[in-house]
Order: sequence, then structure tokens, then C-alpha cells
Amino acid sequence: MSVRQALVRRGAAAVAVAAACGAVSTMAPGLAAGKLDLAAGRHGAPQQAQLLGAQRGPAAAPPRKINCAKVKCIALTFDDGPVSGTDKLLKILAKRHVRATFFLVGQNAKAHPDLVRKELAAGHEVGNHSYTHADLTRLSSAGIKSEITKTQTAIRKASGFTPHLLRPPYGSTNSRVAAVTKRLGMPQIIWAVDPLDWRDRNSATVERRVIKAARPGYIVLMHDIHPTTVNAVPTILSRLAAKGYVFVTVSELFGRPLKPGKTYAHR
Ligand code: NI
Repeated sequence: MSVRQALVRRGAAAVAVAAACGAVSTMAPGLAAGKLDLAAGRHGAPQQAQLLGAQRGPAAAPPRKINCAKVKCIALTFDDGPVSGTDKLLKILAKRHVRATFFLVGQNAKAHPDLVRKELAAGHEVGNHSYTHADLTRLSSAGIKSEITKTQTAIRKASGFTPHLLRPPYGSTNSRVAAVTKRLGMPQIIWAVDPLDWRDRNSATVERRVIKAARPGYIVLMHDIHPTTVNAVPTILSRLAAKGYVFVTVSELFGRPLKPGKTYAHR
């Protein structure tokens, strides 16, 4: 078998995996599967990503076509990983067929390339959260660019996927950060709900704050580096699903290209 044939066969296997695990959350009442176009693309397939690198495109699942103008969508986002505890969160999300968005710190992506691939293979979106979790507003333009591009490289080396979205650490941004991210072609994704889970390491508190503040079209900030947050996720998913929410990635939430450099906190 030629190398090319082997790659084609791997590609076919990847599509089969996508079909098997591409189900949308079954927790959302009233959301008929027929409304969703579950396009199976190059979903997962870390081996393929390693072989092909960025030349043949990302290992990421394409966004599902969910009309969040009509559907009660919410985008859960998890920052600062990946860390070893991320694996537990991935299991929780997989069990409920929920997709989320992970904003990765580049040095953690470099340390845990297997978890970067797992996130993408599960259909989650992966974004850039700088390399060292720096406050980008305190850096020069060159410094900002370095924090972002080093992270792009770490994620690409781990998975073959290059992120489209940036979340500036602390949500801290200014005109200089906007100019650099515009040049790099990346929109800035902030949030509409912040349960302060990094400060209050109490699962019940995190659950209560997220559930209370949730609104359709919102982006929710959480941190998978805190076990108390990971342990809050099952209840958050159950309670929000009972209210009719559908869990989507950030790209799915907007369903349209976002403007590089611009800041988004909700749909
Ligand atoms: Ni952060």
C-alpha cells in the first residue's frame, strides 16, 4: 500500500468515527436531530493529523449548523488547560454528548499534546489563550504576537489544528491587542458569565452562579484546571438542559465568520 493509499484509508476511518460520535446533546428537549446538519468531516483522527500536519487542514470537527437565533444555545468555555484533570471533564462532556470550547495556554498544550488531540477528537473547539497566560495589555506588539503565535505552533504541533479564536488572559485587551489580533486574523472571545470559579473553589457556588446567570446566546467562562469546577459541570449540564439549553461551541454559537480583532462576549 502506498503512503497515499494509507492516508486515504485513515481518512475514511476518521469519517466513520465522526458519524459514530457526532450526536448532538440528547439532553435538550425539543431539539429534533433533523434540524441539525451534522457534517462529518475530518473529525478527530490524531494519527492523520500527525501525518499530514497543517498542510491538509485541521483535525477539528467542523461546526454543526445549529441556528442559535432560534435554538436556545449556550457556549461553555474552559480556560487555562489542558492539565491532567481535563481528562475527567472530557469524560463528563462525552457521556452527555456535549461540545464545549477550550482556550489553551500554549505551554500546557505543549506539555499535554495528547489532551489537545482528545479535545479536538471529541468535537470540542480549541482556541488560543496565550503561551504563558500573560496580560497582553502589558506587552509590546511584538510580545503580544509572540505569545499568540507560540501557542498556535504548540497546538498545531500537538494536533495539526491551528486555532481561529483568541481569548486574552483575564479578558484584558486594548487597542494594541486588537491591532495585533486583527493582523493575525483572530477574533477576541470574552464572556458574558463569569462564576469566579478560580476564586471560589466550591462546586455548589459555581453551579448556582452559572445556572442563575445563563441566558440564550451567552458565553460562559470556567476553568478546567480547578477540580471544583469540573465537579460542577454535571449539575450545570443537567439543570441548563432541563431549561432547554443546547450546548454549542463558540463558532457554532455565532454561526458566521467573526471579525479579526473584534471582541465578542455573547451572540
Ligand atoms: Ni485564563
